[in-house]
Amino acid sequence: MERCDALARHSELAGGLTRVFLSPESRAANESVLGWMREAGMQARLDAIGNVVGRYEGERPGLPCLMLGSHLDTVRNAGKYDGMLGVISAIECVDTLNSKKKRLPFAIEVVGFGDEEGVRFGTTLLGSRAVAGKFDFATLKMKDSNGIPLEKALADAGLDPKRIAQAAKKKGEVLAYAELHIEQGPVLEAEGLAIGVVTAINGFSRLRVSLTGMAGHAGTVPMNLRRDALAAAAECVLAVERVGRSKPELVATVGRLDALPGAINVIPGDVLFTVDIRAPEDDSRVKAVDDVRSALSDISNRRKIVMTIEDLQSQGVAACAPWLMEQMDRAVAAEGLKVRRLPSGAGHDGMAIQAIADIAMLFVRCKGGISHNPAEAITEADAGAGARGLLQFIANFKKQ
Ligand code: GLV
Ligand code: MN
Ligand code: MN
Repeated sequence: MERCDALARHSELAGGLTRVFLSPESRAANESVLGWMREAGMQARLDAIGNVVGRYEGERPGLPCLMLGSHLDTVRNAGKYDGMLGVISAIECVDTLNSKKKRLPFAIEVVGFGDEEGVRFGTTLLGSRAVAGKFDFATLKMKDSNGIPLEKALADAGLDPKRIAQAAKKKGEVLAYAELHIEQGPVLEAEGLAIGVVTAINGFSRLRVSLTGMAGHAGTVPMNLRRDALAAAAECVLAVERVGRSKPELVATVGRLDALPGAINVIPGDVLFTVDIRAPEDDSRVKAVDDVRSALSDISNRRKIVMTIEDLQSQGVAACAPWLMEQMDRAVAAEGLKVRRLPSGAGHDGMAIQAIADIAMLFVRCKGGISHNPAEAITEADAGAGARGLLQFIANFKKQ
């Protein structure tokens, strides 16, 4: 808990937590994590994309690894457990093994992924995709809100974009991936349970929409002659919400909207906004994206607005492996806790890592199901239950 507090102090936001990929704050957080990994008996380094990687050798050096981890970046005005708890818990487990001088028939690698949230460049899972050998080199040209391309941000952080492929693990090197994470939902709390075993991670699609109308004088242009991009965007936001409400399993969100030029006496001529759509079934998500596209195009045509929609990223449902879920169930039961399986509505690094290894996740109850919010909270007892459950899983892990 103290380490979560310590990482939360590395923030660009005074009095709150914002730490995006490759920022000076993230580099400072990485230094702390590297130090904790070394104290826990690991060899620790930054990989080619800027993930923090710690390795604890098994019974002999060079064995394939069980990979553990989560992410060290945050959303804007974030809570301090989303991501960080998983990295810190994994280090804590290794520290326990190390203090008992226990070596396992496999190595453990703990990874603090540099980018899971995708806040800075609009595209997520940059760290874990590089580890999975699925980094899309076209993203090097993507720019942050200050116009800095990813390739420059990497170079500024002392990383060579040409060497990103070196972060990739080969298939046989990773026996499985397991991640502890806060639930970010209300199910465990409602049922009075400290931890739960994840069945699958819902898929997502992210779009960026640009609307161009006509900027003009707020006092002189009559209402019937306007092409107001923000009024059109308002209709679009409600259309996205309608699609999200059209089926119980769907969710759809406009999380960011910028109106330009942004003055009280100017009709907005340009609007940019994002759309995030998720579902536990890929067909239903793909259909929802189509529905959003056609609703937005109807609105723009009717209002004589020029619209473009950019597909930022999409990712199918990532199922946790049955053999790993069974081992995770046994780990929870070994702690004397009731086994509860549940899906994840939020995205996680395992979505990318499943390209090279089967994945498992363990959820820890969080207060009110709140996350992506400074009110995110967990109890010390639940953090302990999660870390002990993860340690049971690690100590009894057997590749199938
Ligand atoms: C990450 O938290 C995501 O689900 O977008
Ligand atoms: Mn998050
Ligand atoms: Mn997260």
